[in-house]
Amino acid sequence: MHLPEAFESRMQRLLGQQYPEFRAALEQERALGLRINPARLTPKQVQSLPFLEGPVPWTPWGHYYASTSRPSAHPFFLGGGFYLQEPSAMAVAELAAPKPGQWVIDLCAAPGGKTTHLASFMQGQGVLVANEFTASRVPRLLENVERWGARTTVLSNPLDRIARKWERLFDVVVLDAPCSGEGMFRKDPEALSEWRQSTPERLGRLQQDLIEQAAALTAPEGTLVYSTCTFSEEENEQVIEGFLKKHPEFQLASAHLHPSFSAGFGLPEAARLFPHKLRGEGHFMAKLIRTDGEEGDVTYEEHAKVSKPSLKAWEEFRKAHLQGELDGVVIERAGHLYLVREHLPSLAGLKAPAPGIYLGEVKFERFVPAKALAHHLNLKQVSRPLEVGTAEAFKLEFGESVPVDAKDGWHWLHFAGVGFTWGVVKRGNLKPTPLRA
Ligand SMILES: C[S@@+](CC[C@H](N)C(=O)[O-])C[C@H]1O[C@@H](n2cnc3c(N)ncnc32)[C@H](O)[C@@H]1O
Repeated sequence: MHLPEAFESRMQRLLGQQYPEFRAALEQERALGLRINPARLTPKQVQSLPFLEGPVPWTPWGHYYASTSRPSAHPFFLGGGFYLQEPSAMAVAELAAPKPGQWVIDLCAAPGGKTTHLASFMQGQGVLVANEFTASRVPRLLENVERWGARTTVLSNPLDRIARKWERLFDVVVLDAPCSGEGMFRKDPEALSEWRQSTPERLGRLQQDLIEQAAALTAPEGTLVYSTCTFSEEENEQVIEGFLKKHPEFQLASAHLHPSFSAGFGLPEAARLFPHKLRGEGHFMAKLIRTDGEEGDVTYEEHAKVSKPSLKAWEEFRKAHLQGELDGVVIERAGHLYLVREHLPSLAGLKAPAPGIYLGEVKFERFVPAKALAHHLNLKQVSRPLEVGTAEAFKLEFGESVPVDAKDGWHWLHFAGVGFTWGVVKRGNLKPTPLRA
């Protein structure tokens, strides 16, 4: 692996005697990881996965998998049964560890690794907001949180706009900051080719600004987790030290979830994850607690009403296909229905591509259920489940129809109880629900 000379000398300075070990680790094959969705797979189903190679020691949901296997070819992947995630990256949400019912915001969320992990802690309770500033990265975020079946409000805004509106409202704030990606050189050749000697300093300045916005959102006694996947001190310890000087109302707490984590340079509470010390890539994490200040004032979202014809179409579908009511408020946006939290902070003035779980669209007075709704439900909540095999599941996922022996009408499609979409049967032909336009 060829590394820029300037990077090598920076790392030599940082690591001293440990440098040769670090350099040798970068020549090794990297460890691959996946994280289980505890709301989807039973422990028995997890055990049945043929490619697991042992636990990632800092999260109960993390596993290594063999580089010769392809977990994304398993139908449980289609059903959001697990998320492919770099093992070190699994430490961040584990450090944030929100409790069910709390208000949580993930500020730099795409493609959704930390968001889906935070959702597992929250067990469908509380408020989980996932924001992604870069518009082109929002579709991937939406796809991943929808596949996870998570109750999430997806936003796309600059952080200062959110911070001005929702000051001191969140129990847990995660800032997985844009960074120079030095810790991912083994995984991501693009990060390596884009790296310049000036990158850490430039991004350090951006991170200093972003952490201010993250802090503004943090409620009294709330937790702010700052993380990067880079090694430079400019983007890590220096950001935290500079922040703490300006903000005595925040205190550092230990980020050491596992003995294989190293201490931050001059900042022992912060954690460094090094590829020569553990099976994972390079990461940095710091946990800050707000010890002072008053809770912010909250204005709740006024929910958009559902038109009569849309409500009628939805209710008809719900009664025929779902067992009981869903928890939340159904709102409408131009014929598209979402299930949102009753108590959500006001979204006025914010870009919110998905205010809640996307239920589906009303077309010609008929309700067409969304794939996202199928992911949100389980076998006990639906009236017309239809189990399909692996080959069919993949065809349906890619929009193809398959022959089937089932009654006409909508069915919730699943593989071993794990739902992945809706399909409509007409004269022996099963067609998946269309993807969002
Ligand atoms: C490290 S990635 C986030 C990874 C994500 N948390 C996950 O676990 O899947 C950082 C994100 O910050 C976003 N970003 C870039 N510039 C930004 C800015 N100025 N303000 C906020 N976010 C920014 C990037 O688009 C990127 O999605």
